[in-house]
Amino acid sequence: MSQSIVLLTGATGGLGNAIARHLSDRGLKVYGTSRKKIKSDNFIAIQMDLNDSISIRKTVDYLIQKEGKIDILINNAGIGITGSIEETKINDIKKAFQTNFFGMLELTQNVLPHMRKQKKGLIINISSIAGYTGLPFRGIYAATKAAVMRMTEALSAETLSFGIKVVDIAPGDFKTNIAEGRIYSKPNQQSVYYDDYVRILKMIDDEVDAGLKPQILAHKLYKISQQKNPKLRYNIGIFMQKITPFLITCLPERLFEKLIRKHYKIK
Ligand SMILES: NC(=O)c1ccc[n+]([C@@H]2O[C@H](COP(=O)([O-])OP(=O)(O)OC[C@H]3O[C@@H](n4cnc5c(N)ncnc54)[C@H](OP(=O)(O)O)[C@@H]3O)[C@@H](O)[C@H]2O)c1
Repeated sequence: MSQSIVLLTGATGGLGNAIARHLSDRGLKVYGTSRKKIKSDNFIAIQMDLNDSISIRKTVDYLIQKEGKIDILINNAGIGITGSIEETKINDIKKAFQTNFFGMLELTQNVLPHMRKQKKGLIINISSIAGYTGLPFRGIYAATKAAVMRMTEALSAETLSFGIKVVDIAPGDFKTNIAEGRIYSKPNQQSVYYDDYVRILKMIDDEVDAGLKPQILAHKLYKISQQKNPKLRYNIGIFMQKITPFLITCLPERLFEKLIRKHYKIK
């Protein structure tokens, strides 16, 4: 059997790098992307920016020319964004959507014709548990990830008959440097949102720092990639995060909102 060819975005990041290492160790050939020109021992590095259509197209063309196929596309690259809905600048919101949604969608559109031709392929989109609900001061991030989830569901239904499997992995908190690349729309000290923002941002950072090891997600993703009939969605995280979707469907909306406000100590 020929070696599986993987295109993984965001291979320099916490989750991406763990995925790249894990899949390479198990014999898959991983092409990993970064916006920077880099070298790696664990994956074959490709420079690509999800904000640049030409670089997206060139990446896919290069891989097809070199390997003749792409077996697995892992849309992992993404950025965080924090700020209140009222005060986050529209340009920052567009930047977040560009990377987390439009860019990954465009890459997927470029890969799909090749997977259809191959009559097989696996697309794994990394969304987030945050995509299930609008968390305070992470509403825009949550919206980008909710968009990924809805798109993933439709894509799966549209392409299953072409032999393409589509999976959404929604992680809870994982200990990575996601805070470094985040877009911060910090309110000024006079803002009505200032105190809540500062307190909640610290909670968000503490939760990420106390998050699971990225290797756990990498291991699970590998196992999912080897399944004949993977599920459409996997929530991967600690118990309380994994049951969030269940709570959302069971509890009245206002009660769930009350629990969220209580957790984040919003008056
Ligand atoms: N960590 C968590 O707790 C957590 C939870 C839920 C979901 N997620 C999701 O998991 C994914 C990985 O997150 P992470 O925690 O590993 O973050 P990270 O360490 O900040 O890594 C982000 C990766 O995305 C790449 N990237 C950013 N903007 C890009 C762009 N415009 N074009 C191409 N690549 C770009 C970065 O590559 P370069 O900087 O090298 O270009 C980097 O490799 C993201 O989609 C994130 O939303 C993370």
